Amino acid sequence: MRDFINKIRDCQDKNELENIRISILGKKGELAKAFADMKNLSGDQKKERAKELNELKDIFTVELEKRESELSEIELDNKMLSEKIDISLLSPKVEIGGYHPVVETMNRIISYFNNMNFSIEEGNMVEDDWHNFEALNLPKSHPARDMQDTFYFGDGRLLRTHTSPVQIRTMMREKPPIRMIAPGTVFRRDFDLTHTPMFHQVEGLVIENGDKVSFANLKFILEDFLKYMFGDVKVRFRPSFFPFTEPSAEADISCLFCGGNGCRVCSHTGWLEVLGCGMVDPNVFKSVNYENVSGYAFGLGVERFAMLIHRVPDLRSMFEGDLRLLEQFRV
Ligand code: PHE
Repeated sequence: MRDFINKIRDCQDKNELENIRISILGKKGELAKAFADMKNLSGDQKKERAKELNELKDIFTVELEKRESELSEIELDNKMLSEKIDISLLSPKVEIGGYHPVVETMNRIISYFNNMNFSIEEGNMVEDDWHNFEALNLPKSHPARDMQDTFYFGDGRLLRTHTSPVQIRTMMREKPPIRMIAPGTVFRRDFDLTHTPMFHQVEGLVIENGDKVSFANLKFILEDFLKYMFGDVKVRFRPSFFPFTEPSAEADISCLFCGGNGCRVCSHTGWLEVLGCGMVDPNVFKSVNYENVSGYAFGLGVERFAMLIHRVPDLRSMFEGDLRLLEQFRV
């Protein structure tokens, strides 16, 4: 019996253990034989022997189960070891991309005005003369139309030259109060160091009933916005002209390159022009049938912002897709 127990405990393989089980507990196994041998014994002896054999059967059963579970555990350990993942193996290289500087700058502008509770409007890239010019106080004879070289389709439609027609579309669709920005693509027939035929603007428009909106409101938000975008700069407002605002101004920031001392980039003025703005002209309100309201508007070029923030000297390089430039904007 000791022999059997040692055999079980030394067994290294589940199949072999099953053979051992059969050889002991099976129909023709050792125990069965021992039970059969009892027929020659007398009554009392028989009883005694049966009790002994049943006890043995219990002991063997327990030993077999114990070894069985030990072998299962060893088997699992071996499996885990052999299936271990080698994390030192080289994997294919994954390139991490980044936003194009124009998109990144656009996102930053949008997030500022989003936080300031401005809604986002879209409008159309293909516009008509009325929305792009006429309703914005630029009648057909107006010399200010020469400020913008327009792509015409020849059927009265045109590619919008600025995002200002979105002001008109929003005012026609909604009622004051209005608080919106319109980020979008615009088109002009222009191509040099600082002009491309396609570029991006963000328009802003705030309108309230009555005379609640003042130039001070405009100055406050634009100054705060420009500091958010450019950091610690000085901001100034300089009188200017736009047909759709009166009075009109251009906002300048102190030159990022020379700190305001004067350099080639700022034409030795110490200032960089960054956006146009003003109080919405009464003629614009007339064309959308608004009465007794006040408001301000502003417009800026996103590429110009991106160029200043990232010190990119040539606007055209923003649209060439040159990886040597774009790789510098990986996150
Ligand atoms: N639409 C003007 C431009 O394209 C910018 C602007 C918008 C100016 C709104 C004042 C108010 O130059």
